[in-house]
Amino acid sequence: MKFRFAAHSQCKILEPDPESRKPNPMPATILDGTKIAQDIRSEVAAEVKIMAAAGMRPGLAVVLVGHNPASEIYVRGKVKASEEVGIYSEKLTPPESSTTAELLAVIEDLNRRNDIDGILVQLPLPGQVDSKKILMAVDPAKDVDGFHPVNVGFLSTQRPGLVPCTPAGVLEILKRSNIPIAGREAVVVGRSDIVGKPAAMLMLNANATVTVCHSKTHDLPGVCRRADILVAAIGRAGMITRDFVKPGATVIDVGMNTVTDAAEFNHFFAGNAKREENFRKKGSTLMGDVHPEVAEVAGALTPVPGGVGPLTIAMLMFNTVKAAKMRRGTRVPELSRA
Ligand code: GUN
Repeated sequence: MKFRFAAHSQCKILEPDPESRKPNPMPATILDGTKIAQDIRSEVAAEVKIMAAAGMRPGLAVVLVGHNPASEIYVRGKVKASEEVGIYSEKLTPPESSTTAELLAVIEDLNRRNDIDGILVQLPLPGQVDSKKILMAVDPAKDVDGFHPVNVGFLSTQRPGLVPCTPAGVLEILKRSNIPIAGREAVVVGRSDIVGKPAAMLMLNANATVTVCHSKTHDLPGVCRRADILVAAIGRAGMITRDFVKPGATVIDVGMNTVTDAAEFNHFFAGNAKREENFRKKGSTLMGDVHPEVAEVAGALTPVPGGVGPLTIAMLMFNTVKAAKMRRGTRVPELSRA
């Protein structure tokens, strides 16, 4: 919220500026992540077809340890998407009780296999496993999650490499929606290794002026209001209210929060008939980190669901083909090396 000095006052009293409360005359453009993800998947499928015809069908191994229900859903989506674009995929399911040493052996075997171009270890891993050690063991050339320090280093030094899927998806949404990045103020809320930090690095590489905020940031709404591009990756339902958003800004919502509490649901979605019907049926709704009221202020906004989410899997498909092309080098047919 902007503030102005009260005109009637001898001393300077700060009051909310009514201008910033006015609804945007143009409601936010909704950025259709589902459509963008479908375009990318079609492009990847065309690449895979050419590579497969040349005897180089890309292969992806997904390692799912134990029975985390959310991870099982994500992995199912990844395997299904691979089938749809023609990538060979293999799901490995070591037991919940697996040790670090046992998982290292699984990874080493996948590193050696020539038919496997991409390795993805679904997180989180069970508590007894040293996750950092496992992620370090993945051959950087097959690290389609982009989590290995070698790929993190490539990203931060602007060298070709594999980029984490969700942040890569954020950049694709901006680019394919013709939202300029160079020279603009970008603010990322959240500093995770998986989303916040790589998203900031990608926008820095695209010549934005980037600020990364976190739980200790002073005046978070004020910092966020500087943003032409605001990326919310916090993991708290509806935390980014209109007071965090400069009118006309592009807001990218990376949050995926499941709301089950009826009071919380009503707080955000009372009067939204479609959501209400869905909530009645399922007992939950998926929402992002951005409050629905932001649609009245932002210039463009990614919805949840249907915004960044679909891009994560599309970029995994893209990364698997990229890894295959990088690894198989000059043997890849010309058309697919662009
Ligand atoms: N768990 C939640 N998000 C991700 C992701 O992007 N990659 C992996 N490997 N695990 C996850």
